Amino acid sequence: MFRLALIPQAIALCFFFHALQISGVRLFTAIQEENNSPPEDFLHGSAKRILTSLKSNSIEATTFGQESSSQDEAYTAGYYTSSRGPEASYYGLHATMDVYGHELKHGQWSSTTFWVSHYGDSNKSSYNEIQVGWHIRPERYGDSHPHFYTLWTRDGFETGCYNMDCPGFVRVNDAVIAPGDAIHPVSHVPGPIQNITLRVLKDKTSGDWWVYYGFNNIPTGVGYFPKSIFSYLAQKANVMSFGGFVKSTKALPTPPMGSGAFPNGGKGRAASFTDLRFINQDGNSSPITGNLTPLVTDGKCHSITPIDHARCFYGGPGGCVR
Ligand SMILES: *[C@@H]1O[C@H](CO)[C@@H](O)[C@H](O)[C@H]1NC(C)=O
Ligand SMILES: *[C@@H]1O[C@H](CO)[C@@H](O)[C@H](O)[C@H]1NC(C)=O
Repeated sequence: MFRLALIPQAIALCFFFHALQISGVRLFTAIQEENNSPPEDFLHGSAKRILTSLKSNSIEATTFGQESSSQDEAYTAGYYTSSRGPEASYYGLHATMDVYGHELKHGQWSSTTFWVSHYGDSNKSSYNEIQVGWHIRPERYGDSHPHFYTLWTRDGFETGCYNMDCPGFVRVNDAVIAPGDAIHPVSHVPGPIQNITLRVLKDKTSGDWWVYYGFNNIPTGVGYFPKSIFSYLAQKANVMSFGGFVKSTKALPTPPMGSGAFPNGGKGRAASFTDLRFINQDGNSSPITGNLTPLVTDGKCHSITPIDHARCFYGGPGGCVR
């Protein structure tokens, strides 16, 4: 399913954890079976520890709100922080992203997301993550609109949930949007473009992870994940990622990612991240200039451009075939 042997260790690792969230234990089985003799470079350092601990880990991974199957196809095109591991520290991420609508079927899923993660002690059961972004998921919402969503876990997707499905995310009064709400109108090619600005940051005083949202506008606080619901993320994140993610059951074509155009289409055609910023421990932000590692499952189907002036384009058409 995933040709881990062909991609560098780091990308494999990150994708591993992204995939973990969506495909559950059967995905691990598939990876393990296909990688009985992983190449030496995949087995260094933390990759080795994770692989080892997952192999000996019989926990049935839950997948929030979705039946998983080894027949699912999943693709990512994004970036994640090149500096990671226990010593890496991240406290916030900010970007403006275009929002597109697509007519999807049950079994298809397209999202554009921030992943704020801590790999814990490398065991799956200590994996902490926050996701914030927009996604189109007909089987979840009963429609094919893009929805603003949140997700959290502190233990590799045993505990936690999407949106307000369980206690966790605390919505503030008068918030401009609630997790799970549809976003409209959506962008059209070649315009007009509708964008959302998202900001996830760890508040220095409370230690809580705040989420800010703005529709064609400056983001305002819509709620927070209390520090107390996490283990490792209570201190900091050690990996941050952003990008597009699509998934479908094998019987269906993969859905479009972003606008459905390849990133070389540029503004108005391809979906973009603009004003990409990291936020430091004191709440100050600085533009993301590069030094991130691309994470692209299959460049024939989706891709992402280099970051230039804190901006990049990403996406690709549906119907990816490998
Ligand atoms: C993973 O968890 C097991 C069991 O709790 C523990 O013995 C092991 O040390 C952990 N692995 C790491 C890398 O911390
Ligand atoms: C987002 O939309 C607003 C309103 O249309 C526009 O003023 C702003 O320039 C857009 N931002 C980006 C980064 O495209």
